[in-house]
Amino acid sequence: MKQYNVGIIGATGMVGQRFATLLENHPWFNVKILAASPRSAGKTYKEAVGNRWAMKTEMPASMKDMIILNAADDVEKIASQVDFVFCAVDMKKDEIKKLEEDYAKHECPVISNNSAHRGTPDIPMIVPELNASHAEVIPFQRKRLGTKRGFISVKSNCSLQSYVPALFPLSEFGIKNALVCTYQAISGAGKTFETYPDILDNVIPFIGGEEEKSEQEPLKIFGHIENGVIVNSTTPNITAQCLRVPVSDGHMAAVFVSFDKKPSKEEILKIWGNFSGRAQELNLPNAPKQFLHYFEEDNMPQTKLQRDLEGGMAVSIGRLRADTQYDYKFVCLSHNTLRGAAGGAVLMAELLCAEGYMD
Ligand SMILES: NC(=O)c1ccc[n+]([C@@H]2O[C@H](COP(=O)([O-])OP(=O)(O)OC[C@H]3O[C@@H](n4cnc5c(N)ncnc54)[C@H](OP(=O)(O)O)[C@@H]3O)[C@@H](O)[C@H]2O)c1
Repeated sequence: MKQYNVGIIGATGMVGQRFATLLENHPWFNVKILAASPRSAGKTYKEAVGNRWAMKTEMPASMKDMIILNAADDVEKIASQVDFVFCAVDMKKDEIKKLEEDYAKHECPVISNNSAHRGTPDIPMIVPELNASHAEVIPFQRKRLGTKRGFISVKSNCSLQSYVPALFPLSEFGIKNALVCTYQAISGAGKTFETYPDILDNVIPFIGGEEEKSEQEPLKIFGHIENGVIVNSTTPNITAQCLRVPVSDGHMAAVFVSFDKKPSKEEILKIWGNFSGRAQELNLPNAPKQFLHYFEEDNMPQTKLQRDLEGGMAVSIGRLRADTQYDYKFVCLSHNTLRGAAGGAVLMAELLCAEGYMD
């Protein structure tokens, strides 16, 4: 497979650090550039991160002494040295939109973890197992941006990364209504137990903007391409409540769902068990062998036990049973900073490379 030089924009942050560790030994991607805010620019990666390093493994030795570039001022320099960039920055929405478009317009594709462009109709939001075909909107986006190579592709919010993969394969039954309660880890807020002592022995019933994202973003993933844009699906009708719980990593969701044509429990289990997508077909380096794992035990999946399944890239499901108000209810889990953030973005980049969008 071809080798690609890549940059990490926002390398000093929580998601950026995760990119650094995931890309350290990647078989296709070589990290050539690290960039962040003017506060970090000019320092080595080690100096710029200081005591903010939050990964369980050491900072990659190959990156420690790399000099951080200025993400906004050095666009031209960065774009000329890499094949594409990963981007996860904490900036205002308009600034992020401009930054990402600047890279794309300099013919440098952007694989983004930011939410700014998730609503832009010609920017795909790809879960490689579910809607890989949405990449076909990229030529239309390039036309709008006036680019030959440059484009933006985004990763969805981490909250929906457990239940959308469980619901999507059941589309043939017409998913009518889904009620979702999420139990989300503190790393999703960029926190650890050390930096967030208020969460110990506590549950916080509000995560700003999360419920809207959990309800709306799935509709883009369930959508289809028409006239060069992604048209959001009008179903399923999703209502969500998102809670922050005292867990380091791993977002769990309790789901209630009703269908137009109610499948049997056996049909659902068979579909989940057999489900695979383009990521498995292409045998992408970070693709889990089995995307959806169903656990028969009543007390599974558990956050601590299953979040790291298949390198944190698989989704765990359990407790599928009939409900008195909806057709079924079940519980599902995914690792929020791996599959739900940087890992999902790396897999999306692998898909886009394998499909020829980075050539
Ligand atoms: N599902 C997902 O995909 C997912 C999950 C979690 C987070 N996110 C998103 O990822 C992004 C980063 O989250 P995080 O938790 O990693 O945040 P974080 O830990 O606060 O890191 C923010 C990063 O942005 C950089 N930055 C801040 N201001 C900048 C500027 N003016 N110019 C250039 N870079 C700047 C910071 O650089 P300095 O260190 O130099 O300040 C740092 O590298 C956010 O948009 C967040 O919403 C997505």
